[in-house]
Amino acid sequence: MNPRTLHLRDADATDALGAALARTRPPRAVVHLRGDLGAGKSTLARALLRALGVRGAIRSPTYTLVERYPLGDGGEAWHLDLYRIADPGELEFLGLDGDEARLWLVEWPERGAGLLPAPDLRIELAIDGAGRSAVLQPATATGRAWLERLGETREVAADS
Ligand SMILES: Nc1ncnc2c1ncn2[C@@H]1O[C@H](COP(=O)(O)OP(=O)(O)OP(=O)(O)O)[C@@H](O)[C@H]1O
Ligand SMILES: [Mg+2]
Repeated sequence: MNPRTLHLRDADATDALGAALARTRPPRAVVHLRGDLGAGKSTLARALLRALGVRGAIRSPTYTLVERYPLGDGGEAWHLDLYRIADPGELEFLGLDGDEARLWLVEWPERGAGLLPAPDLRIELAIDGAGRSAVLQPATATGRAWLERLGETREVAADS
């Protein structure tokens, strides 16, 4: 399946994409969020978590590497930021292999190479004028179905 490219004209558009991803998400998925510093990875992850019902502060996992949020259906969403990881072995130390995680949102996944679950969906964000571009690339059947549902949402259908 071809990647899908969206233009996100402002941070509200990034929030809207996060909300649409939340509404259409599969029961279990791994998302890798790539892009340079300031590309909007955390903005998208936060919007997704909010739309999943997470209340209160959504802390950046920059130092803790992972923040875990209960999802109400018994599962958890795990938000990781591996920018500051010194050695991928730190991930093993965190014991991130439970099945509680229904949704993984991983910033800087390239720094956890080999120790993270394979992604269903890769999202590559980049600065694009005053806004951002988002390239969504599914990597599994789960990711492909997710992207198809996403394409039917008003936020994403309007872009193309
Ligand atoms: N579509 C957009 N258009 C313009 N600005 C945006 C857009 N999306 C997010 N931003 C802004 O970009 C800035 C950086 O975003 P964010 O912290 O999410 O980046 P990041 O990719 O997580 O960076 P880092 O790798 O440093 O953690 C924020 O001020 C955010 O509001
Ligand atoms: Mg970030």
